[in-house]
Amino acid sequence: MTFTPASTAGAGPATALGESVAVAYPNIALVKYWGKRDEDLFLPVTSSLSMTLDIFPTTTSVAVSDGPADVVEFNGAPATGAALRKIETFLELVRAKAGRTERAVVVTANAGPTGAGLASSASGFAALATAAAAAYGLELDPRALSRLARRGSGSASRSIFGGFVVWNAGEGEGQAGDLSSYAEPIGGDDLDPALVVAVVNQSAKSVSSRVAMRQTTDTSPFYRPWAESSVLDLAQMREAVARGDLPAIGEIAERNALGMHATMLTARPAVRYLSPHSLAVLDAVLALRADGVAAYATIDAGPNVKVLCTRADAAHVAATLDGLGDFVTTTTAHIGPGVAVTTPHGALSVGGDR
Ligand code: DP6
Repeated sequence: MTFTPASTAGAGPATALGESVAVAYPNIALVKYWGKRDEDLFLPVTSSLSMTLDIFPTTTSVAVSDGPADVVEFNGAPATGAALRKIETFLELVRAKAGRTERAVVVTANAGPTGAGLASSASGFAALATAAAAAYGLELDPRALSRLARRGSGSASRSIFGGFVVWNAGEGEGQAGDLSSYAEPIGGDDLDPALVVAVVNQSAKSVSSRVAMRQTTDTSPFYRPWAESSVLDLAQMREAVARGDLPAIGEIAERNALGMHATMLTARPAVRYLSPHSLAVLDAVLALRADGVAAYATIDAGPNVKVLCTRADAAHVAATLDGLGDFVTTTTAHIGPGVAVTTPHGALSVGGDR
């Protein structure tokens, strides 16, 4: 599907081009992306598989402007420093692809916590890529949009689509790698799981996933073995999704995530996102399983734990985790949609519902 661009190059004064607004949801990887083979092009070492959520969306509007510089508002305040530079760099990429030079006014807001391992960069760059492409008149199909979002943040490539999604690592370097590294939906339509997000710390992490990833791939003796076992995890996960086998999906997801954290813990210096509160949630998940509840944990680059279970078990799982103490707050997510964009020409669901 190709979406209607907001304008075409050279169509009148820049301020008359209108704005495009995109809404994208975070995704949580069940087989993780951890490590790049090319940092500039965001080419990953391994393929990954995720589930798009229906909570904590990012809404981003991009309006092409005749101003002297990009202006970015982030969660109600002017963006500055590294956050602003990342967005400007991304806009430069979009402008280069579109053959345009005008600057933009960007207004973006996350409904969930930012930078706390809750995939705000995934929803953020999926929304920015979609809104910016539409505003600058780039006609991209969902695969090309996924490749573009990847250049802002690797995991954003997956948030273009709803439901279960694989981001193919792709093959080769340079242009060949760029062209072959995109995300795509993989079905799993019989599955309707819940993901209970147990927030134990809302604040932004002290080490960004980008830096932690580099430190791990460069120094951890556990990185190669994890990357190799992740290839097998992905193959088994694809089969588990295809047959709608939630316990198998949960088991693979949990071992893959704990393995990723093992690579961080063995980096030099070590990167430790897990806190005593994360471990308390992990213990509670083990206790739930011992009681016969199919609940499985996954953790990203932060201390917060996401627990996969059936929709029917979600309330019990959430109550159990909330009952651990004031340090836990849960929010329950289900399968969410792909990115959607509204342009002056109308609204469109770009990445589909599942
Ligand atoms: C642990 O996509 O945030 O959440 O590509 O450097 O922006 P960059 O990293 P990012 O990393 C996500 C890492 C992860 C695992 C995952 O989402 O697959």
